[in-house]
Amino acid sequence: MTSGERRIAFITGAASGIGRATAEHFAAQGWWIGAADRNTAGLEELRDAIGKESCRPWPLDVTDKTAWDAVVAELSEESGGRLDLLFNNAGIGAAGFFEDIPIEESLKIIDVNLIGVINGIYAALPLLEATPNSLCFTTSSSAATYGAPHLAVYSATKFAVKGLTEALAVELSRKDVRVADVLPGVIDTAIFGDSPVWVEGRRETDMGRTVVDNAPAEGPFRLIPPSAVAEAVWRCYQGDPRMHWYVPDEVEAIDKAKAADPEAMRDGRIAALKAGATPLD
Ligand code: NAI
Repeated sequence: MTSGERRIAFITGAASGIGRATAEHFAAQGWWIGAADRNTAGLEELRDAIGKESCRPWPLDVTDKTAWDAVVAELSEESGGRLDLLFNNAGIGAAGFFEDIPIEESLKIIDVNLIGVINGIYAALPLLEATPNSLCFTTSSSAATYGAPHLAVYSATKFAVKGLTEALAVELSRKDVRVADVLPGVIDTAIFGDSPVWVEGRRETDMGRTVVDNAPAEGPFRLIPPSAVAEAVWRCYQGDPRMHWYVPDEVEAIDKAKAADPEAMRDGRIAALKAGATPLD
């Protein structure tokens, strides 16, 4: 089934969590969804949920640029060379002190969370350029407000995504492609259960439901459903000019406090660490 005249979104990490919620949100508004993930069973569930007339699943490992090029060539055939929204969202995490996480694991995080995004933008840019009012949108994180202890490399990838967004928002204005990102707090998805916790080089456990179950009732790290992120992507496409979308809004206060006094924030976090803060706090 081709996309016809409908608007088209290509979403990575679409099999689960934020990606899936965004695919469902846009499909409900009449969009056609190119859904990419390495989790093919999850993609099939998504297609069954929103209907095959509105969704084509593409098994894709975002770290593989050759695979990206092949998928985008097929997408272009389906869409007549158009793409209204590229949502680079696939991501992975791992928690623990920097030196406790094996370097292979850290490099994998960089590969998915940063190289995967860069691959996607290189591959899909010609389609975005060919489409009026197109949007290049990426999932960063609240871990890109202040470097998150116990998540140092993950946090670094999300800062990189945020910087990439700012630079490309300027550069791609030449081509009438809008660029923005989202910095979510704690979103109720599978990522925590899939993220290992490392202690002294050993994979101890995973973050499981601990983060989700212990989320505070209020503030920037209260538990938020993935549909709230989907709503932010939707509002951005509709023309809200914000470049960084904080979900919930309170996450922005961390960014501002860090900018105003980074040493005070550092010292507060050192105090928390000395008081015994762990990756699961
Ligand atoms: P999720 O685990 O539900 O979804 C992530 C999806 O990415 C999964 O379907 C997974 O199969 C896919 N994926 C992972 N590696 C891939 C690869 N190499 N190629 C293709 N697909 C791959 O988690 P969630 O929370 O929906 O994550 C989406 C994004 O949101 C990630 O970038 C994550 O870092 C970010 N994020 C999540 C937060 C949260 O609290 N859940 C907070 C801030 C950011």
